[in-house]
Amino acid sequence: RRMERWNGKVAVVTGASAGIGAAIVRNLVKQGMIVAGFARRVEKIKEIADCLKDSSDKLHAVECDVTKEESVTVAFAWVKNNLGPISVLVNSAGIIKESSLIDGTLEDWRSVFDVNVLGLCLCTREAVRMMRETADEDAIVIHVNSLAAERVPSVPGFSVYPASKRAITGLAMTLRHELAGTRIRVTNISPGLVATKFMASYSVFSPETMAAMPVLNPDDVAAAVIYVLSNPPHVLIQDVVLRPLGESCMNTLTNKIALVTGACSGIGKAVTEELVSKGFKVIDLSNDINKLKLLVDELKDKSGKLYPLQCDLSLPNEIESASEWIEKNLGSVDILVNSANINDDIQEFKKIIDINLLDSLLTKKILQLKDKSRNICPGLMETELNQQWLKENSRLALKPKDVADAILCSGERAYQESYYYTHSGD
Ligand SMILES: NC(=O)c1ccc[n+]([C@@H]2O[C@H](COP(=O)([O-])OP(=O)(O)OC[C@H]3O[C@@H](n4cnc5c(N)ncnc54)[C@H](OP(=O)(O)O)[C@@H]3O)[C@@H](O)[C@H]2O)c1
Repeated sequence: RRMERWNGKVAVVTGASAGIGAAIVRNLVKQGMIVAGFARRVEKIKEIADCLKDSSDKLHAVECDVTKEESVTVAFAWVKNNLGPISVLVNSAGIIKESSLIDGTLEDWRSVFDVNVLGLCLCTREAVRMMRETADEDAIVIHVNSLAAERVPSVPGFSVYPASKRAITGLAMTLRHELAGTRIRVTNISPGLVATKFMASYSVFSPETMAAMPVLNPDDVAAAVIYVLSNPPHVLIQDVVLRPLGESCMNTLTNKIALVTGACSGIGKAVTEELVSKGFKVIDLSNDINKLKLLVDELKDKSGKLYPLQCDLSLPNEIESASEWIEKNLGSVDILVNSANINDDIQEFKKIIDINLLDSLLTKKILQLKDKSRNICPGLMETELNQQWLKENSRLALKPKDVADAILCSGERAYQESYYYTHSGD
């Protein structure tokens, strides 16, 4: 009932063609508002309108590139002439570009600020001008900010994005000062990770990683917008921070240092590939330095980095020198994956025992995380060792990547002592 006073009033939502903006548009129309959805892909907004059935005439698709001043002024003029005064503006248009502050380009940085900061300023200016023409009516400006503005996460490639969002926090405060004495309120909504296509081009956030992480839905953010609007005119909701429950794993999974043994083939190799693709610095220990160098070459374009170290894991003095090198050059190790093993040739039996025992020495030296060690116990695996046997015996087997996924997904969120995996059809 508290939303009734917005019935028939006009809202402008930028970034309305997808994700959070699209969800906000749907929810505002459901509440009886007349909505102008701004975006470059107007056809997407028209598709949303078509799905609204009886209310489809309440959503108007307006082409607008928020980085172009003329496009913005023309879009707002269209709203004024065709729909009337604006009561609500939701700035949701935003982009992210995987880049870095050390190697990034001005073009990438500028494009993020053009949309997230200056585009937001242009739309806000135009909307507030119109809102002030109907001074006795109350109105609301909502910026879709980000949790990344508050707690800059350690995500490789985030580059200028958190700064662009933190700028919005400042802009909201300044706008409140400028609007003092008016009936226009300004609210910041800062969501954590939301399941949209926003991160689709981002190597750290592959669909598998997103699926394993706690996320919000676009409708959760839309519900926050409705909550803000449902408060009476004298209540200013300054900030709404929305976090998916358990979301802290984002910080624990990225930009960490991992040490993997047995990285030349099978599970160790799959784990290394996954970790480096997700931005980890990975130190690989192996006796076969040439194989490791080939792997370095294979992974050179990924967001993380691979450090190959020659080390015979059956020799304590080599483990000692490797740990010294690691301490000196990279500091502490966050994750150790003990995957080294050797062909189960009976002649090598002693070496197998040595390697497995020395795994423990490595664990002790490098990690001192006795109470945090986990056992990953895969069933039959498809590795180089048994490929031939699997072909001859047609058995179902796990792939090395399944184990890599198990290691990454377990993260800090769900500490378990042991994980047992077999093929689902086994
Ligand atoms: N997804 C998340 O995890 C997350 C978390 C916190 C905050 N946010 C913030 O939420 C907002 C929406 O993100 P989302 O997840 O919904 O992203 P999304 O699904 O990628 O949608 C982005 C929207 O921005 C519009 N846009 C981009 N550049 C534009 C431009 N130059 N002019 C006009 N519109 C433009 C896009 O429309 P066109 O391409 O059709 O123009 C699209 O509608 C962003 O501000 C983002 O920073 C997202």
